[in-house]
Amino acid sequence: MKELTQVLAVGRTRTVYQYPGEPDWLIKIENRHALVSVGKVSLFLRGLIHRLLPFFSENARELRIYKKLAFSLQGFIPEYEEVLVVTDKGLGLACRQVLDDNGQLSKTLGDYLTDSKISAETLKPQLERFFQTLFSKSLYFFDFNPNNFLIQINGGNPTLRFIDLKGYRKDRALLPLSYLSSSLAKRKMQRRIERLYKRINL
Ligand SMILES: Nc1ncnc2c1ncn2[C@@H]1O[C@H](COP(=O)(O)OP(=O)(O)O)[C@@H](O)[C@H]1O
Ligand SMILES: [Mg+2]
Repeated sequence: MKELTQVLAVGRTRTVYQYPGEPDWLIKIENRHALVSVGKVSLFLRGLIHRLLPFFSENARELRIYKKLAFSLQGFIPEYEEVLVVTDKGLGLACRQVLDDNGQLSKTLGDYLTDSKISAETLKPQLERFFQTLFSKSLYFFDFNPNNFLIQINGGNPTLRFIDLKGYRKDRALLPLSYLSSSLAKRKMQRRIERLYKRINL
């Protein structure tokens, strides 16, 4: 079992740790307490499901998505380990670190834009290429939070990476019509892209 001690980043639903003994890798662990907001019954049931059936965990779901999409999204996403890792903090999803030229973890899209004061306009061609890839391969994602993109400084150039695949076909609407019709899914993804663009002033 891997013992996780060094926290590299904290996301909305997961904590990201250094992979012990693998300098270029990290391990994502789900924060169970993130489920508190869902309500007590749901918290209890989800906790139970999580413990009994790792198949239903979000990490397991993301790994299944990765295996399905790794080839189609090559170049946009980092490499994942093929199996979940047993750790003292639960089952973890291992992922290659996205690092800048200086060896530091790359910044999220939001942080990069705030810190560098560079206009999002310079990143637009890469964002468009990524979204075009999704549309052309009918891969529908509904979570384009700016923290799910990293800007990797690679050979001096800012390069777009997408690091959170959980939003694949995840429609949280009361009536998730996007599951029934690809044209509705397409329209929903388009709205999510517009929402991201608005958030980063594009
Ligand atoms: N492969 C990676 N390389 C570098 N940083 C990462 C990587 N994956 C995640 N991170 C950092 O960890 C944060 C949380 O990861 P994420 O997968 O989005 O978790 P959550 O499920 O909580 O949204 C990201 O916003 C990013 O800052
Ligand atoms: Mg995320």
